[in-house]
Amino acid sequence: MHVSEHTRFAMSIAQEAGAELLRRFNDHHNVRSKSTPNDLVTEADEFSEKLLVARIRRRFPGHGILTEEGTSQSSLASEWLWLVDPLDGTVNYAHGLPSFSVSIALVHEGQVVCGAVCSPCQGLLFVAERGQGAWQDGKRLHVSAAPTLSQAMLSTGFPYRMVGNPENNLREFTQVALRAQAVRRLGVASLDLAWVAAGALDGYWEANLQPWDWAAGALLVEEAGGRVTDYEGRRWTVETTHLVATNGLYHEELLAVLRGVADRDDAEGAASLP
Ligand code: IPD
Ligand code: CA
Ligand code: CA
Repeated sequence: MHVSEHTRFAMSIAQEAGAELLRRFNDHHNVRSKSTPNDLVTEADEFSEKLLVARIRRRFPGHGILTEEGTSQSSLASEWLWLVDPLDGTVNYAHGLPSFSVSIALVHEGQVVCGAVCSPCQGLLFVAERGQGAWQDGKRLHVSAAPTLSQAMLSTGFPYRMVGNPENNLREFTQVALRAQAVRRLGVASLDLAWVAAGALDGYWEANLQPWDWAAGALLVEEAGGRVTDYEGRRWTVETTHLVATNGLYHEELLAVLRGVADRDDAEGAASLP
């Protein structure tokens, strides 16, 4: 596996921050709520974020950095931009469930060029470089061969604000669950995508994501031979919020199910007009 200096750096800082998260995992966590009572932040998110920002600033002082907890808020339009989720899966972490990650991606002129996702509890490091491939700890990744939705195991996620949110994903969840072999909810978007890249999941969809949640994972899926689009089937950009990732074989079938929910919403909205 021959990767660029940027990729190697992303791998090393993802692992360093992952090791710190793991070291603090069994400590008592001071948990605070952000936008809603279930939108949490712990001192571990903040520690990991400060560590990652310090490492990037020291090595690449001219690069922009956009982080979830606001330590650095460079624009998405920056020529070079690091997207950092210092702890993906905060709710799992706060509850003591050993499944979370550090997710880091580098964007150059609007294109994600490399990404690393470290899952410290499982001792796994996923990495992708544009045009070169995707790997897990040196092993080349390939998406699955599930040919249809009915033979696929997918995962999804839900937004923190569920009540009164028309995009809470419950209707989409029902419609996909009725047609797929299985649907899971892991609580770690970057790992959902990494498992699609590894072929252990056949697909994943979620609405209202932030770029730090999915940028590294989307590149992993593409470099492993999969397909990543928005809900309309358009290729993803750093501004995409609604993400659909599959092995590519039944992508249109999944999009049609998601579109069916949206079309029904439009029809019901029109029917209720005075
Ligand atoms: C969340 C997780 C979750 C997904 C949410 C994300 P966080 O990130 O990735 O799986 O469903 O949409 O916000 O808050 O744990 O970094
Ligand atoms: Ca996070
Ligand atoms: Ca996240």
